[in-house]
Amino acid sequence: MSSVIGALSNPKRTYDKVVNDLTVLKSIWLKPLAPADADHASRLDHFYRDQAHAYDGFRSNFLWGRRPMLAACAARLEGKSNLVWVDMGGGTGENVALMAEFIDLSAFSAIYVVDLTPSLVEVARKKVKAKGWTNVFVEEGDATSWHLPLHYSDGTETKADLVTFSYSLSMMPPFHAAVDNAVENILDEKRGLLGVTDFFVSGRFDLPQRQHSYLRRVLWQAVFDQDGIALGPERRAYLDHKLNRVMEHNSDGTIPYVPGFMRAPYYVWLGCHPRSSQLMRRARSGIDLSGVEEKFHRPALFPPTFLYSISWEDPRADDPAFMVGEGDVVLTLTGGGCNAMDMTLSGAARVVCVDMNPAQGYLLELKLAALRNLSFDDAWKLLGEGKHENIEKLYLCKLAPFMSQGAKRFWGSRLHMLDGKNKSIGTGLYLMGSMGWLVYFSLLLQWWIWPARYFVRKLVSAPTLEDQRKLYNQLTPNPNSILGIFHQLMWWVLRYVLLNHYMLWLLNGVPKAQSDLIKKHDGRSIIEYAQTTFNGAALNTHIRTQNYFYLLCMIGKFTKECCPRFLKPAEFEKLKADENRMLDSIEVVTGKFKDALLAGVYTRVILMDHMDWMDASYHHDLASTLRDHVSPGGRVIWRSSSIEPPYSKVMEQYGFEVRRVSYHDKPDACIDAVNMYASFWVGVRK
Ligand SMILES: C[S@@+](CC[C@H](N)C(=O)[O-])C[C@H]1O[C@@H](n2cnc3c(N)ncnc32)[C@H](O)[C@@H]1O
Repeated sequence: MSSVIGALSNPKRTYDKVVNDLTVLKSIWLKPLAPADADHASRLDHFYRDQAHAYDGFRSNFLWGRRPMLAACAARLEGKSNLVWVDMGGGTGENVALMAEFIDLSAFSAIYVVDLTPSLVEVARKKVKAKGWTNVFVEEGDATSWHLPLHYSDGTETKADLVTFSYSLSMMPPFHAAVDNAVENILDEKRGLLGVTDFFVSGRFDLPQRQHSYLRRVLWQAVFDQDGIALGPERRAYLDHKLNRVMEHNSDGTIPYVPGFMRAPYYVWLGCHPRSSQLMRRARSGIDLSGVEEKFHRPALFPPTFLYSISWEDPRADDPAFMVGEGDVVLTLTGGGCNAMDMTLSGAARVVCVDMNPAQGYLLELKLAALRNLSFDDAWKLLGEGKHENIEKLYLCKLAPFMSQGAKRFWGSRLHMLDGKNKSIGTGLYLMGSMGWLVYFSLLLQWWIWPARYFVRKLVSAPTLEDQRKLYNQLTPNPNSILGIFHQLMWWVLRYVLLNHYMLWLLNGVPKAQSDLIKKHDGRSIIEYAQTTFNGAALNTHIRTQNYFYLLCMIGKFTKECCPRFLKPAEFEKLKADENRMLDSIEVVTGKFKDALLAGVYTRVILMDHMDWMDASYHHDLASTLRDHVSPGGRVIWRSSSIEPPYSKVMEQYGFEVRRVSYHDKPDACIDAVNMYASFWVGVRK
């Protein structure tokens, strides 16, 4: 709609744009091919000559990989100066203008735009002049043989910090020679980064993250082939062979004047010389961006998002029983991921976070990328308040370059939820995922029912625990009064609307097996269970200062006074110190818990409540695997919705000294700030 209004408001510009686009389309689709015996340079000029003046306008809505590729390169050059960049097949020099969005061009002592097509070189030269770029040099040359003209004072040739091929490698028939020239003659071996973006089709059998169907492979190769553009997988295979891949992303984008469902596949690929260890380190972000990335499918019955946006285990209650310290190797379910940061802050050498639901991993990737690459203020807005007014830019420049392809797909389509400019109460990180619906419901209730809003505001700002208790106790009025009837009504709504099987699973992540443990095994009703949970937490933990779990549910965000440890300024800085050393110890794995357990030996294991979800054969199987993969003296902790879960005995049978640390022993018992589980256990490997 806005584009229609824009078009009508400036008809002359719209007319010019359409004429220019038609010129480009004519060159692409209708222009006769150059004579077969023409050399590469002549063929290129034949193709570009008539469209050179209109190139930039059309390509701005077509070459979608340029900005993410340049942003990912810029993120890895941040803070450096005196850089040299060579843009091979740089065409009209538009990449230089785009790069200025991500890094101050004065960080470069020289930028070379190298291209073989005279008509495009001419456009680039005019652009350099018009923009007043004094450090940009446009060179007419062949990417397979062009050399940097500069020399250091000792006579050796200057090397480039960055070489890019933006939609040009597919147009260079001798692409091996172009890559060889860049790697062997131009790129600095120690600190050089090579960035590529281009259209592509996968091989018949390719890496999972690249794989295309038969139709896509055949269709797009046929379409591009007529303009002499080769999309096959051999370019990337050669890049992977010559360099160390730092990251890659495979996606697709729209084409002007072509229906939106016909999206052309493109990739962004970054690599460096094996000796560029510094760059490799910055690229890790807890996930291996250089490896093979499986296409993860969410398990059956899981919603297409994460269930938990925060860890629903109180790490302060874990500490005395779990005792994580220097050098510990921890395996934990990922969940909301917050507690991984706590453990690395406590000195753990390695924290492996595993979850079957890929979206839980994507959430942790977002948190890790934010902690690594954002300032405290920006990270606080995103992870503390759940929104940032500049999220698009932050995402492109600081977060996405350090995330896996799966995480980028997930977050790329959900950025509107994190947009601080959107004031709707339904947006924000903690309004996302299944748990987000619960928070949304709580906020809506406060919005609609003024007394509820008034009460919640009083509760979350109660000066002391004593004041909070007094307020909370007012919630249990005389059952025969009007307030009492309203109170009964609210519990009734809670019981039938929120605490039925379906809602327990969809909003709270409590499957049927777990609610059966409460009802059938312990003989407690769900409502009785919920009352102990809320009463215990509300009467024993000060929400304003101590209980960030319920604070979040009531106000949809954290406060600086009450938030997970990693959002406290001192801890935040500690995590980032020494080039994110602590954060480097966190690994994000999508898969089955048992497979991750089998893959290593651990000194600490957190089972959370997942044994509640499983049957007896799984309990025996897991307990025996734990016996073999937890080192002697190692500790395993778990929580259960049952006061006496049957599998605690199973753990004893498999060589663990088991102790119930705390449990719901009275109606308003409080075992931790969450208080959502009936018991908390530790098993020490004998
Ligand atoms: C699709 S354009 C991309 C231009 C620019 N990099 C961009 O992203 O807008 C491909 C470019 O590769 C250039 N090119 C193709 N073969 C080349 C070669 N052997 N040496 C230098 N440039 C070459 C073409 O002249 C053309 O400008």
